Amino acid sequence: MANELAGKVAIITGGARGIGRATVELFVEEGAKVVIADMHADEGEALAKELGSAASFKKTDVSKQDEVQALIDHAVARFGGVHIMFNNAGISDGREPFLDYDFSAFQRVIDVNLLGVMLGAQAAARQMVKQGSGGSIINTSSIAGTDPVPSGFAYGATKAAVNNFTRSIAIALGPQLIRCNAILPGNIPTSIGLYNAPGATPEQLRQLEINIKAVRMSHQPLKRQGSGRDIAQAALFLGSDRSAYITGQIIAADAGATAGNVSNIGAELVAARKAALEG
Ligand SMILES: NC(=O)c1ccc[n+]([C@@H]2O[C@H](COP(=O)([O-])OP(=O)(O)OC[C@H]3O[C@@H](n4cnc5c(N)ncnc54)[C@H](O)[C@@H]3O)[C@@H](O)[C@H]2O)c1
Repeated sequence: MANELAGKVAIITGGARGIGRATVELFVEEGAKVVIADMHADEGEALAKELGSAASFKKTDVSKQDEVQALIDHAVARFGGVHIMFNNAGISDGREPFLDYDFSAFQRVIDVNLLGVMLGAQAAARQMVKQGSGGSIINTSSIAGTDPVPSGFAYGATKAAVNNFTRSIAIALGPQLIRCNAILPGNIPTSIGLYNAPGATPEQLRQLEINIKAVRMSHQPLKRQGSGRDIAQAALFLGSDRSAYITGQIIAADAGATAGNVSNIGAELVAARKAALEG
């Protein structure tokens, strides 16, 4: 595949690292002009430089309305418009049990994960309406938004809200041919969430990755570790004209982890039976 996105301009928030970075790279490979939006200026600028004239970095805090508008203006000035808005930047909150949860991170998680998505969608949609040829808005949600886990309480709540918001604006913007969908990534080793362990030793981090991988592997039908590139491929589909008739959908890219019930206990039982009977 190549040039699936020729002639399109994309903005990717959280584009300096992880899933966003992998998407920036894939979109450029596929012929898009890409604006990388992130708070990490060093990494964002270095990535833009590496990718050459097809990419540009704009330092942005997605929770600030004036900065989000400046981001759209930057894309218009640099590349002539906005066709794809990938609202991907996100942060997670603490892992403490609910009774000890102190709500100190709560507001910031809401501001980045929910308000940031809303601001990005609105500013991009206004620009797309001006252009008059539709567009694609993609939001990064999480399985935590549909399958609650007993930690990261603000995180899961924001992702559930993003799912609902995605459907609402798909309905609102459909008449202008602006599509809006969300991606639910499976577990991808990045700097967020379960992998975020400030102060951990390199050995502890290595063990953390091994342990998480073992649990994930036991719960997902496709037995391989995912990468940012796997999620980027879903974003490519949703950003390209191949998905021109798809809007208001919440699409999991998770190696099938949510194909059965949440814990995939059925598969575990079958495996346990097989082990017992076949030795
Ligand atoms: N990694 C996973 O397993 C996983 C699973 C489900 C959902 N997600 C979601 O995927 C998205 C990307 O996360 P990731 O895993 O690549 O993590 P990551 O930490 O590697 O990347 C997140 C990026 O967002 C940027 N960012 C954070 N706050 C920002 C702000 N206010 N303004 C602009 N940029 C900001 C960070 O600087 C970073 O570059 C997030 O929305 C996350 O919730 C990740």
